[in-house]
Amino acid sequence: MSSEPIRPPVVRPRRLRTTAALRRAVAETSLEARQLVLPVFVREGLAEPRPISSMPGVVQHTRDSLKAAAAEAAALGLGGIMLFGIPERKDAVGSGAIDPDGILNVAIADVVAEVGDALPVMADLCLDEFTDHGHCGVLTADGRVDNDATLELYAEMARAQAAAGADLVGPSGMMDGQVAVVRSALDGAGHTDVAVLAYSAKYASAFFGPFREAVDSSLVGDRKTYQQDPANAREGVREVLLDIAEGADIVMVKPALAYLDVVRRVRDAVDVPVAAYNISGEYAMVEAAAAHGWIDRQAAILETLISIRRAGADIVLTYWAAEVAGLL
Ligand code: PBG
Repeated sequence: MSSEPIRPPVVRPRRLRTTAALRRAVAETSLEARQLVLPVFVREGLAEPRPISSMPGVVQHTRDSLKAAAAEAAALGLGGIMLFGIPERKDAVGSGAIDPDGILNVAIADVVAEVGDALPVMADLCLDEFTDHGHCGVLTADGRVDNDATLELYAEMARAQAAAGADLVGPSGMMDGQVAVVRSALDGAGHTDVAVLAYSAKYASAFFGPFREAVDSSLVGDRKTYQQDPANAREGVREVLLDIAEGADIVMVKPALAYLDVVRRVRDAVDVPVAAYNISGEYAMVEAAAAHGWIDRQAAILETLISIRRAGADIVLTYWAAEVAGLL
């Protein structure tokens, strides 16, 4: 072995990592309150906010506590609030979703009255919280999810949400043609300014688990005949392009973390804003590990969100939105 002296490197990427201020100056990606959307749950007939055990820190809201959360979100400058409703009674066709007095529609009106134009108000447009079988659409006699019959209900649901004052509706049921039907239902009712945030590339994911508790889901089985196979990335881009052709204003990839490659492909393929949903199971994993002292909670949250932004998401839906906006 010769003992030649080690030649010092000429190029030193570490120079730009010397201080926190310099690292901040050269950061390629930022996290800002306006990029974060807070998903919230509101439950009919509730007297007190009810904790969701699999999502520590997240609650099912009462109508009043929801208004307070919306006011806080507006004050923090968040990019929006996404509403999910949990009805007292469910039925086979999810009537509560269409009823103007249904929990989701009255909650939209409550929140809009509270925040006005200060915060974009978004609503999940799907039947699964309202059906007694827990599927995102209505069923055929032999128990399959009936795409086209479901579309008619989505059209009515879109009109009800727009009438309640929603700024954006979020069709999330993965029925073929849902964006076109929702767009034309809105336009036909004069709601041409209500935008469509399409859950375009939505995968049949195990990480939705805690959400099932959050909305008291009745689902038995899975959603694999309508949500996408986790094996498929190209197909995610195809779903996104179809939704844009049907009139989607914003497209979404969901879940986020296990699908960062899909987020990147979609960002590179389209010129509309791209959202990604950091879903319940992704939230629960970080909270659970942090509760055990296995990871630094705050650092893990910020790293999670910056990685979703870095992959290409302009907008991130996250249950940490308000907390993180408070840190920024
Ligand atoms: C459908 C819907 C789901 C989520 C958002 N919209 C559940 C599903 O598709 O099974 C999941 C959100 C989360 O897990 O945080 N209404």
